Amino acid sequence: MANVVLIGTQWGDEGKGKIVDLLTEWAEVVVRFQGGNNAGHTLVIEGQRYALHLIPSGIMRPGKTCVIGSGVVVDLKILLEEIEILKAQSGRDILSQLVLSDEAHLILESHRRLDQARERQRGEAKIGTTGRGIGPAYESKMARWGLRLGDLLAPQEVLRGRLEVLLEQHNLLLEKIYGEEPVSLELVLDELKEAAAIVRPAIKKVPYAMANYLEKGESILFEGAQGTLLDIDHGTYPFVTSSSTMAANACASSGVGVTSINEVIGVVKAYTTRVGSGPFPVELDDQVGEHLSVCGGEVGTTTGRLRRCGWLDMVALRYAVLLNGLDSIALTKLDVLSGLKTIKVCEAYRLRGEVIDYFPSSIEDLAECEPVLVEFEGWSEDISGILDYEMLPENAKKYVSYIEEKIGIKAMLVSVGPDREQTMIRHNPFLI
Ligand code: IMP
Repeated sequence: MANVVLIGTQWGDEGKGKIVDLLTEWAEVVVRFQGGNNAGHTLVIEGQRYALHLIPSGIMRPGKTCVIGSGVVVDLKILLEEIEILKAQSGRDILSQLVLSDEAHLILESHRRLDQARERQRGEAKIGTTGRGIGPAYESKMARWGLRLGDLLAPQEVLRGRLEVLLEQHNLLLEKIYGEEPVSLELVLDELKEAAAIVRPAIKKVPYAMANYLEKGESILFEGAQGTLLDIDHGTYPFVTSSSTMAANACASSGVGVTSINEVIGVVKAYTTRVGSGPFPVELDDQVGEHLSVCGGEVGTTTGRLRRCGWLDMVALRYAVLLNGLDSIALTKLDVLSGLKTIKVCEAYRLRGEVIDYFPSSIEDLAECEPVLVEFEGWSEDISGILDYEMLPENAKKYVSYIEEKIGIKAMLVSVGPDREQTMIRHNPFLI
């Protein structure tokens, strides 16, 4: 038995969904602990593509329990849509695999509308959010007038009362600040009632459920969304998401003690991508950037936006290792680098003439950072069919060894394609 946290080390889109789906073979329970349907996980199973936004990626395996913890913000419309799609694709009763925290906050129509209105008002300075209402939903939570999944189980007049308080605030903002139509209380209430009738059996007090899994000796996999550099505290603020993407939050936001965790894995893409605005020192606007974008299929699963691409950034990666206390990394998309004559890696930044090896807190400083690059000889072979790590081209192995040496931890797996099979597992934390 082992309890493993898996998080993204970059700006999201590291390929976490595939790794979670893969590792779920050895876990009984998979937990999402933060974010909402701003996440986008693409899974390819036996050639079929599945796009998930809210439901944990472990859902594709029958019999696995998938938990949505208190730190997640839940859009019930999306949840129900995903349940329906997955049900149609798999022929299974998806709801019976789900456990939804009664403490998780809801994303309502007014949150989505506020997210989009704010982005419009910001104009050039927009954050480039996914427009899913994530930020406003976390705002409501912190302001302490948010609605929670558990409120769906309350008497009708209690639910109505809570919604009235929230919509009074939101409609004031929508009408007076953003010049928009108000959101109808009756409409939202009807939608909530309809959704409640379906999800009610899955709503639970998650910390007790988690204690029960631990007691039974079931293995738990905690699935992070977004990535370290999008963290609300340590990321490139304000160009971040509104939750804590840190490994430590896996425990806080699912009600489990930190002492229960056995291994923390950071997913690292072999190069870097970023969606939305904000500084990105390793960004490439040339043919190599184009190669990464095209060969890596770097289009957002959630928004369809093209991702910005660049070399691997070791300054950022060392920061992620430190922030999350990583035990190992899962290196993804190594195959995308095939065919590049030269591969570069950013070892340090040059900031106003001075070489620095730390990740600055100020986005103005980060925007001025120039990457200090080291070069590696590339490889031309297609490696997407290789199943044995030792069979990788020497230059590919050198690249992996360099990364491991620089961060002082090992790659527990190397992924060379989107399919489950295209993975070389070198160490499995669930099988120790
Ligand atoms: P929000 O989370 O929708 O508020 O968006 C804030 C920032 O986080 C934007 O730059 C988004 O593009 C980025 N973001 C949010 N979720 C993801 C994700 O799952 N992958 C990559 N970027 C994300």
